[in-house]
Amino acid sequence: MPPVKVAPSVLAADFTHLGDEVRAVSEADQIHIDVMDGRFVPNISMGPMIVSAIKRVTDLPLDVHLMIVEPEDHIDAFAGAGAEMITVHQEASPDLHHTLKAIRDLGVKAGVAIKPETSPLVLADMLHMLDIILVMTVDPGFGGQPFMKETLSKIQRVRQMVSASNREIDVSVDGGIDAETAPWALEAGANVFVAGSSIFGAEGGPTQGLQVLKSALEK
Ligand code: DX5
Ligand code: ZN
Repeated sequence: MPPVKVAPSVLAADFTHLGDEVRAVSEADQIHIDVMDGRFVPNISMGPMIVSAIKRVTDLPLDVHLMIVEPEDHIDAFAGAGAEMITVHQEASPDLHHTLKAIRDLGVKAGVAIKPETSPLVLADMLHMLDIILVMTVDPGFGGQPFMKETLSKIQRVRQMVSASNREIDVSVDGGIDAETAPWALEAGANVFVAGSSIFGAEGGPTQGLQVLKSALEK
């Protein structure tokens, strides 16, 4: 199994103190940044300016999750802002091969995200172009939703596809991840755990929230 990584999602951070919030999770493996356009998903969140602001306060890799239509038009901007990984949605990318190539040509790791109702079979022919498969474990668009247990069998199928390919592809889960649900997803084959509310909304603060999630994954 590839190494387990935790990616705090700044969507749930206190934006009036974004720098402090990011510094509080310096023991994480990467920082997850959710970009929403009000078209692919109903919500609008942040763009490249926030990515470059976060870049200035952390050395952790920035993992940008584009929940936007026509993602190919914005890849240069996010790569330029400091993204180390860019994940686009299969459902929003008519020419996924082309988009993944464009990301990799910029020296950025390429990911594809799939919504809970999307079959992983759509990715079978492009594993050679992928560094990350992000399995949405809630409907994309908002933080704080409950983990959808019915996605566990899909996580298993994605891990089987990845293992059979002999490629080092991260299997990431995003949505409703906390100390209870992360071990289920780990057991199913995920190795990257994106978590917003359970870290930035933790009662004891984000540093402790991160620690609790990491400990749950070590058991
Ligand atoms: C949802 C986003 C998630 C979100 C997760 O569309 O992709 O990254 O921040 O939030 P929680 O962990 O609160 O479910
Ligand atoms: Zn996300």
